[in-house]
Amino acid sequence: MKHFIIASLLTILGLIVFILVDTETIFPQEKMTVDEEQHGLKEQIHIVFSHVVAENTPKGLAAQKFAELVYEKTGGRVKVEVYPNGILYSDTEELKALNAGEIQMIAPSYSNMTEVVPEWRILDLPFLFRDYDHAKAVFTGETGKELLQFLDNNNMKGLAFWSNGFKQMTSSVHPLREPVDFKNLTFRVMSGDILKRQFQLLGAKPVTASFTDVYSSLENHQFDGQENTISNIYSKGLYQFQPHLTLSNHGYLGYSVIINSEFWNSIPAVIQKQIIEAMHETTLWNMEESKKMNEAQLEKMKEQADISIYELSNDSKARWMTKFQPLYQEVERYMSQELLNQIRKSTY
Ligand code: SIN
Repeated sequence: MKHFIIASLLTILGLIVFILVDTETIFPQEKMTVDEEQHGLKEQIHIVFSHVVAENTPKGLAAQKFAELVYEKTGGRVKVEVYPNGILYSDTEELKALNAGEIQMIAPSYSNMTEVVPEWRILDLPFLFRDYDHAKAVFTGETGKELLQFLDNNNMKGLAFWSNGFKQMTSSVHPLREPVDFKNLTFRVMSGDILKRQFQLLGAKPVTASFTDVYSSLENHQFDGQENTISNIYSKGLYQFQPHLTLSNHGYLGYSVIINSEFWNSIPAVIQKQIIEAMHETTLWNMEESKKMNEAQLEKMKEQADISIYELSNDSKARWMTKFQPLYQEVERYMSQELLNQIRKSTY
């Protein structure tokens, strides 16, 4: 009897061990991490930030800096993943991807946004910005805040304006000094009515093309010229196919930094505040850095033997301005004169 009881107990014990071992084999449990530092990782918020320019540009570096500051200020709770060079989406696709919630942040040029925010067309007026300080005053001051609010009607949240810098003219054909030099040449432009009209007034043919295609289209001689900042011309190597560069400073390339508003509203207020702080710090840094970067990269381009660089003289500039005058009148017809005056009067 005693042996029978011991044998029964051993059998039951064996069964229990078998069930425990076998359950683990058949239904393996997810391994639980015990490392204290890992706690909270599951709640980490990810922001995918897609843009189209190179990393060594004012926008590329600002996006990286913003990512670092957000991580630091939120104690690692928010991770911004930056995808440069259009590797996720081109400039013609990124807005759609943002609205669909496939990505959370973009920083398109405001020119590319003028179909959605027609009020921003004003920012493309030639010779509107006097210098970098003027642009900084407009974009970081009250006017910048008012301009960003136009995005609210479009289910997007504008966080800031960033700067790339002044645009210059390039050509593969001949130097562009006088309005007549533009006659019948084909120019690549970003999307934006004002940009197109600007070239039409100079007698040229503007064609809208995505930034992602600019390198190959210039290489294949699809366009005679284009306008861009030194930073974009240098970092994308566009100067290789455009040996004539005119330092005209005729337009300004700035960006609207936008976050998907549904995503934004889902973030706790305390984190929104930390993100806004990081954005503010990045923006002030970007405004200084963009100027330095364009200057430094111009010096590097001057070292290239196969590129000729011309300064636009004051007399030539006056003749360009005369050509552009109708644009200012056209704009006044459908845009607030008050906003234009406000921009002109802004000082830093
Ligand atoms: C950009 O700087 O984001 C693009 C500029 C361009 O389309 O030329």
